[in-house]
Amino acid sequence: MTTTRNTVILAAAFWSCALPLHANGWGEPHLSIIPRTEAEAARIAAVTAPTTRFDAPEPFETHPAGKATKFDALNRNAFSFASANMSFERELDFKVGNGFFRKLWVTAPASTVSSDGLGPIYNARACQRCHIKDGRGHPPEDGDDAGVSMFLRVSIPDEVSGLNAEALSYLANVPEPTYGTQIQDKSIAGVPAEGRMQVTYEPEVVTLGDGTQVTLRKPTYQLGDPAYGPLHPQARLSPRVAPQMIGLGLLEAIPEADIMALADPEDANGDGISGKANRVWSEEYQQWMLGRFGLKAGAPTIRAQSAGAFSGDMGLSTPLHPDAWGECSAVQTDCRAAPDGSDAPEHVEVSAQVLDLVTFYSRNLAVPARRDLDAPQVLRGKQLFSDAGCQSCHRPKFVTHRLTDQPEQSFQLIWPYTDMLLHDMGEGLADNRREWLADGREWRTPPLWGIGMTKTVSEHSFFLHDGRARNMLEAILWHGGEAEAARETVRQMPAVDRAALIAFLESL
Ligand code: HEC
Ligand code: HEC
Repeated sequence: MTTTRNTVILAAAFWSCALPLHANGWGEPHLSIIPRTEAEAARIAAVTAPTTRFDAPEPFETHPAGKATKFDALNRNAFSFASANMSFERELDFKVGNGFFRKLWVTAPASTVSSDGLGPIYNARACQRCHIKDGRGHPPEDGDDAGVSMFLRVSIPDEVSGLNAEALSYLANVPEPTYGTQIQDKSIAGVPAEGRMQVTYEPEVVTLGDGTQVTLRKPTYQLGDPAYGPLHPQARLSPRVAPQMIGLGLLEAIPEADIMALADPEDANGDGISGKANRVWSEEYQQWMLGRFGLKAGAPTIRAQSAGAFSGDMGLSTPLHPDAWGECSAVQTDCRAAPDGSDAPEHVEVSAQVLDLVTFYSRNLAVPARRDLDAPQVLRGKQLFSDAGCQSCHRPKFVTHRLTDQPEQSFQLIWPYTDMLLHDMGEGLADNRREWLADGREWRTPPLWGIGMTKTVSEHSFFLHDGRARNMLEAILWHGGEAEAARETVRQMPAVDRAALIAFLESL
C-alpha cells in the first residue's frame, strides 16, 4: 500500500480534529444499509449466540456463506466460483472482473495501452499470481528464492521518524526512507529491483502432553542484495503470504457495531482475551473507518485493499493511488523517471471502472459448503473447539447488513470463524511492527471458513501470516499471547481429541 505521501499532507490538515470514538465504530460509508428493526436485532442476537449443543449440526450450518454458499464444486476450483445467489446479469461483471484479476500486466509503452504500466518495481504481474486459484499463497520452497506469492512489508519505528503523535496516527506506520512500505523484488528493464526476500528456518521442538514431539520451524527474514543501499538500521520487516479470497464481500458487510460489540481491548471481562478493532484512515471516504482487510486489518474496504495491491504489488496507478511509479520512493529517482502507462484514458493505468470490476470480483468469490458436518468426530471436534476457547476469537456466526445494492451479501447468516479483531498472539508470531492501531504482536483473527479445502485448492497446507506452519496442528501450536490458554489445552489433549479438533477444522 502506498498511502503515505498523501497521508502526511492530510495529517497536517487534520491535526485539529478530535477523533470521534464511539462504541459503535466510525461509520460504514462503503455500504448502502437498510437499518435493522429492534425485533430483527433481537432475533439475530439469538441466532448468532454460540451454540452449547453439539449432538447435531445447527440449522443452516451447511451454508457457511448463507445463500451465497457454493455447493457441489469441491475440487481444485472450489474458491473460484461466484456467489451462488448471483443473478445471471451480474455474473457477467464477475467474469470480466475475473479477467482483470488474472490478467498479466506488461511494461509501458506497449501496443495494448490498456494493459501496460507495470512497475517500475513490483512483486507480481497479476493478482492471481499471489492469490493462486483465489486461494492463499505460500512461502518459497527450498532452493527457490522467488517468494512470489508473499512479500515483505517494511517500515521504521515511530520513535525515529521525528513526527509527533498526531501526525503518526494518520500513518499506518513510517515508511523506510529508501524502500518505502514494501520490498518489491521484481522490476522492469533498466531499473533495479529492491532486493530479495531471504528466509531461513530453525527447528523448535514442542512436546505434547502425551509425549509426542512436534518440530516447528521458526523463520528469520532478511533483505538479500539490497539494490538501493542498506536498510535503515532499525527497519522492521513483516512477511506476509497472500490470503484466500473467498467470502470477502460478506466480511465487508458484517455490521460494524456487531464487531465492535466483541472488542474488549482492556479485557474487562477478564477472560484473558481482549480483541481490539483497528482504526484506519480511508483515503476514499476521507474519514476514519474500521480496518477489516489485510493480515492486520489495515484496510477498510476491499476496494481500498485492491487499489493498494495494484499500486504496491504491481506498480499500477488507480484513482485512489494516482502515482504511476507505484512504490518508488523520492530517492529512487530512476525508478520514478521510468516510462509509465498513464497516457491511457483517465491518466491512470487502471481506471475506476477496472478497479470496480476487480473489487466486485473480489467481493463475490463464494465460500464452499461444509463437508461431513454431522460426522460424530467432527461434532466432537466442534465441541472441543468451543471448550478450548478457540471461538472467543474465531467467532462462528454473524448476520450481515441488509443492503440495497448488494443482493449477494445482503442479510445472510454467515459462519466465517473470525471476530475481525486484532489479538496479541505472543512473541513467537510477532513482527514487531505497528500497522495503524495494531502493535507488533497483534494480528487480525483470520477467517477459518474454507480452510479444510486448502489442500485441494492450493495443494499445500502452509498456514499463518507467513506460511511457517506446515499443517493445522503446527498453526495451533504457534498460538501464544491471548491464545496461550487455548494452545495449552490443545497441547495437553489426548491424541484422539486432537484428531477430532482437526477433523472439525478440515470440515470447514
Ligand atoms: C505479490 C503478491 C500479491 C499480489 C500480486 C496481490 N496480492 Fe492481494 N494480498 C497479498 C497479501 C500478502 C495480502 C495481505 C496484505 C496485508 O496484510 O496487508 C493480500 C490481501 C488482499 C486482500 C485482503 C484479503 C483479506 O482477507 O483481508 C484483497 C481483497 C486482495 N489482496 C486483493 C488483491 C487484488 C485485487 C490484487 C490485484 C490487483 C492483489 N490482491 C494482488 C498479496 C498479493
Ligand atoms: C486470541 C485469539 C485466538 C484464539 C483464542 C485462537 N486463535 Fe487461531 N488464530 C488467531 C490469529 C490472530 C491467527 C493468525 C496468526 C498469524 O497468522 O500469525 C490465528 C490463526 C489460526 C489458524 C491458521 C489460519 C490460517 O488461515 O492460516 C488456525 C488453523 C487456527 N488459528 C485455529 C485455532 C484453534 C483450533 C484455536 C483453539 C485451540 C484457536 N485458533 C484459538 C487468533 C486466535
